[in-house]
Amino acid sequence: MKKILVTRNLLEENEKRLLKLFDAKLNKEDVVLTTDQLIELSKDCDGILCVGGNKFDKEIIGKLSPSVKIIANYAVGYNNVDTNSAKARGIAVTNTPEVLTDSTADISILLLLGASRRAYEGRKAAEQQNWTWSTNLLLGKQMSNRKLGILGMGRIGRAVAQRAKGFGMEIHYHNRSKLSPDLEHGAIYHSDIKSLFAQSEFLSINCPATPDTINLLNEETIKYLPDGAVVANAARGDVINDDAMIKAMKSGKIFALGLDVYNGEPKINEEYLKLHNLFLLPHLGSATKVTRIGMGDRAIDNLEDFFSNKRPKDQVN
Ligand code: DGY
Repeated sequence: MKKILVTRNLLEENEKRLLKLFDAKLNKEDVVLTTDQLIELSKDCDGILCVGGNKFDKEIIGKLSPSVKIIANYAVGYNNVDTNSAKARGIAVTNTPEVLTDSTADISILLLLGASRRAYEGRKAAEQQNWTWSTNLLLGKQMSNRKLGILGMGRIGRAVAQRAKGFGMEIHYHNRSKLSPDLEHGAIYHSDIKSLFAQSEFLSINCPATPDTINLLNEETIKYLPDGAVVANAARGDVINDDAMIKAMKSGKIFALGLDVYNGEPKINEEYLKLHNLFLLPHLGSATKVTRIGMGDRAIDNLEDFFSNKRPKDQVN
């Protein structure tokens, strides 16, 4: 049986299946492993099932035992793994697309609604029981019939578009390439950020973190958005420059922000926490039982394929 290091706990259903197929080295305490622990614990392993975004940069990959032949990432995003260095070492890298599309798109809508309808302030006021109903209590922005910009029109972006249409929103998007009409479903393509942002009364970030998208919302580009825009990020924290965003939220340029992901998470820029117009979640994009089981199954499928000498369907390098 091939030996697999599993870096964090999987749901029971996945763990049972994994244990039937592999000699799985589990992290029963479910602690976040340090780099040294990752290297040490994987020494006698054939593969790593990377749960929770452990970082595998060039240096760490260089220190992995030659026995490690695959890193099966339990996430659709794989910016935590240097795929080129892995390839150079003959290590396959896989991800878990498709199975988390719906749950992550739901969270994008929740972020847009939570931010635009001031859910954080609402929760606080309700909890403190000191509010009085009035015609102008916590007035928010309504999504209905407004324009939604989607940055990154992959599977998740398209699922956000589908949901937003239920609000009567007009969909605009930017992507590396224009989609075919059957995938676009009437959404309006913008080949550049400036033109997309100019239309985006609401903006949903659904792109992967790549050298092209890191810091994409910055001092300069935030200015392209309409005054009072609402922004939601369910993708990766490093797409937003926090200092620029905080400044824009303070000035009112950005009416409200919804975040599920952070630069350096679980840490968050302290300045954000002083703002009332922020709706926060702790990286819950894929956090439903059905999705997490789907992710586990997908990662196990990839391991099974790999060790049966088939190219895993989700190999990314
Ligand atoms: C992903 O799959 O990339 C998510 O961020 C993990 O929840």
